[in-house]
Order: sequence, then C-alpha cells, then structure tokens
Amino acid sequence: MADKKAILTVPGLDEPIELPIYNGTVGPDVIDVRGLTSKGMFTYDPGFVSTASCESAITYIDGAKGVLLHRGYPIEQLAKQSDYIELCYLLLNGELPSPEEKKQFESTITYHTMVHEQLTQFFKGFRRDAHPMAILCGVVGALSAFYHDSLDINNPRDREVSAFRLIAKMPTIAAMCYKYSVGQPFVFPRNDFNYAENFLHMMFSTPCEEYKPNPVLAKAMDRIFMLHADHEQNASTSTVRLTGSTGANPFACIAAGIAALWGPSHGGANEAVLEMLDEIGEDSEENIQRFIAKAKDKDDPFRLMGFGHRVYRNFDPRAKVMKETCDEVLKELGLENDPQLHIAKRLEEIALEDEYFVKRQLYPNVDFYSGIILKAIGIPTNMFTVIFALSRTVGWISHWKEMVSGDNKIGRPRQLYKGSDARDYPAK
Ligand code: CMC
Repeated sequence: MADKKAILTVPGLDEPIELPIYNGTVGPDVIDVRGLTSKGMFTYDPGFVSTASCESAITYIDGAKGVLLHRGYPIEQLAKQSDYIELCYLLLNGELPSPEEKKQFESTITYHTMVHEQLTQFFKGFRRDAHPMAILCGVVGALSAFYHDSLDINNPRDREVSAFRLIAKMPTIAAMCYKYSVGQPFVFPRNDFNYAENFLHMMFSTPCEEYKPNPVLAKAMDRIFMLHADHEQNASTSTVRLTGSTGANPFACIAAGIAALWGPSHGGANEAVLEMLDEIGEDSEENIQRFIAKAKDKDDPFRLMGFGHRVYRNFDPRAKVMKETCDEVLKELGLENDPQLHIAKRLEEIALEDEYFVKRQLYPNVDFYSGIILKAIGIPTNMFTVIFALSRTVGWISHWKEMVSGDNKIGRPRQLYKGSDARDYPAK
C-alpha cells in the first residue's frame, strides 16, 4: 500500500525506524506512525493539528485553497444546484441519487418525521428557560430508549434505519425544543412540505394560525442546512467517531456530537456572532474600531466571533455562499439597511485589510453571516446552534456509518505524562 517510507532516527535507538507513507486521492500524504508503539514511543500532537485519525471518503477540505468537496462535488455547486435531501443521500451513499432514488429517499425521510408520542413527555422534565441545546442533547440521547429495534450496529439495515430516523426526526425535535421554550404546543410535521418548509412550519405554525413558508426563506433555510451538512474530522465529528468506536448506539453517538458542537469555538459560534453584534450595539465607526482593537488585544479574551478557522487559511467557501444567501433574504424581507448587517460587513472589510488578521490568515467563516439570516427569518439566537446540529446530523451519521461498516478499532489516544512519578502513600 505504501511505496514511500519516512525514516525516523531516534537518539538512543540503534536502528532508524521506517514509517510507511500513504497518499490520499488529493491532499497531503500521511505518515503511518502506528509502528512507534512497539518501539516504546508515541507521537505528541495536542489539538490533533497534524494527525489524521482515520481514512475517509466523505468530505475533502483544502484549507489553503478554500476548497470543500462532498464526495468530490464542490460545495458551491451543490449549494446552487442541489438541495439538502439530495446532499444527505450523497453523503450517506457516496453517489448522487437517480431521480427515482431521490424520490424514494425523500419519501422515506418524510415518513419518519414524527416522533414517538411518549417522547413529548420527556420535554416536561426540562425547565422552560433551559437552553435548547441542553434539551436537544438529552432528547436525542433518549431516542435510543424509544427506537431500540434499530440498534444492532452490526446490521447494515439497522444502521440505515437509524440514519433515516435521525435525519427525519431532528427538525421535529429541534422545533419542539423551540416550542417548549416559548410555551406553545408542539406542531406535527406535514408531509406535503419539503424538509426546509416543514421545519419552518413546525417552528412557526400555531393551532390558531397556519404558517405559509415563504419560498425565498425556505430556500435560504435549505442552504443553511447544506452549508453545515459535513466538514470532515472536526471536533464534533471526531467525537461521534470516538464514541461510536466503542460500539455505542448511533443515537448516543449523535448526542455526544451535539454536546461537542455546543462550544463557542465550534457550533456555538453562530450564536456568539449575534451576541457580539448586540454587544457592539450602535452602528458607528468608532464603536466598530473599538471592538477590532479588543480582538487584537492579547490581554483581552474577546475574539472576533465568526472569524478564523483551524483549517481554512484563505477563505471559507461556505462563507461566500452564506453571504450571498444573506443578501437574498434581507432583500426579500426589505431589511437591506439592517444595522447589524452593516456592522458585520464593516467588520469584515476592516479585518480583511488589518495586518493582525491578514498575518494570522483570519477570514469570515460559515457562521459570520448565518446568524444574521436566521435572525431575519425570526429564529431566536439560542436556536442557532440547534439548527447547526440538525444540519450536521447527516455528516455525523455518515461518518459513523463509514466507521462502523469498516475496520473499526476503539479510539484510545495516549499522553505525555507530566505528573508525579510513583511515590509511597504516607505512613499513618
Ligand atoms: N479573533 C481574534 N484573534 C483570533 C481569532 C479571532 N476570531 N481567531 C484566532 N485568532 C488569533 C489567536 O489569538 C492567535 O493569535 P497569536 O498567534 O498571536 O496567539 C492566532 O489567531 C491563531 O489562533 P488559534 O486559536 O491558535 O487558531 P485555531 O486554529 O486553534 O482556532 C478557531 C480556530 C476557529 C477556534 C478560532 O479562530 C476562533 O476562536 N474563532 C472564533 C470562533 C469561531 O468563529 N468559531 C467557528 C468556527 S467555524 C464553525 C465550525 O466549523 O465549527
């Protein structure tokens, strides 16, 4: 498999160590360090900045060039020409569906959107003012208690059914989290709506008034789902893989992914962007410059939220599409002069020219504009990360499926131990 080898010379070892080098389809080669353990050594890579944790055929990112491919297809083309349901099929199965396959897949998802009625009781255990991500973590984890007829992870059909259930039920559960927090009755899904329309319907319909999804907003919602659908081995996906490597059931794995996504350095960033724009407050140049200065001040923990990415060092291709979608939505709603949009655009302009951001290759990421779109649609800030989780579920489950159906080994990193050496317990 490896036609090249790296030679590692280690002081104290008589022989150099040969490490196989593998090529991916595209992207950097990887050095296989597995042989080091037998020589009594580990590699050290906090934050896994140089570590490929698995082999995968789902998503490819070239951070330097701003490239994101799902099963080989560029995200910009998918966002413009495809839709979320088709992307789900592609991520799960590796190829685009035929029209017939797409119809069948869409119908399967549509007919799995309802949740077990007893699950609705679960929500009552939460305080009404609980963060919807807290509710989502709990309720998704609880799905394994309701759908244990599809939990045999070694059975391909069970894996498939669990994937359908998760993709189909996430919008229902996400909308239930919102409805619970505002004290409104849960709204049942409707089979005559598409995936994005159905989500908006479950969020905004009430028994007193029907919600007629606006096609521009439904399309924007679908795009937000698409742009967050997968992003290779990020913190939450790696969490799902690590959890799944133990043989845990898929619902538990996705709940673990949701927990990992919640942090402001990851999926919590979209909520943090809006909080930052609120904190900046007045749309004045002086104010904006003050926050830019805060972001650059090493004694100030403030960071420009929605800026920077571990992998993208040129631009985030998702951010470009998101910005276009943002303009479309605000135009449709007559909000082109929204002061927060103006602050966001001005922050971007300044940061793209400022030496601090340029030197560190910090560019707007996918979530810089997604919050403005979601807010314009009428979605409250604390639901933003829930929507990210809903969208990312297909990515998580595709990676879980790829791992479980392949040669899976339990994840177990090692450490550089810096604690006390062995010592005797003091005599009493
Ligand atoms: N504002 C100001 N300075 C920043 C920012 C920022 N948003 N991001 C990074 N830096 C600085 C950082 O202080 C450091 O400076 P120095 O070299 O002088 O110490 C340098 O840039 C490198 O930062 P880092 O933390 O080592 O970079 P990282 O690759 O570990 O972190 C990140 C990536 C996304 C966590 C970080 O850029 C960040 O905190 N951004 C804001 C949060 C955010 O928007 N996250 C969403 C990511 S996209 C959604 C997703 O896929 O999850």
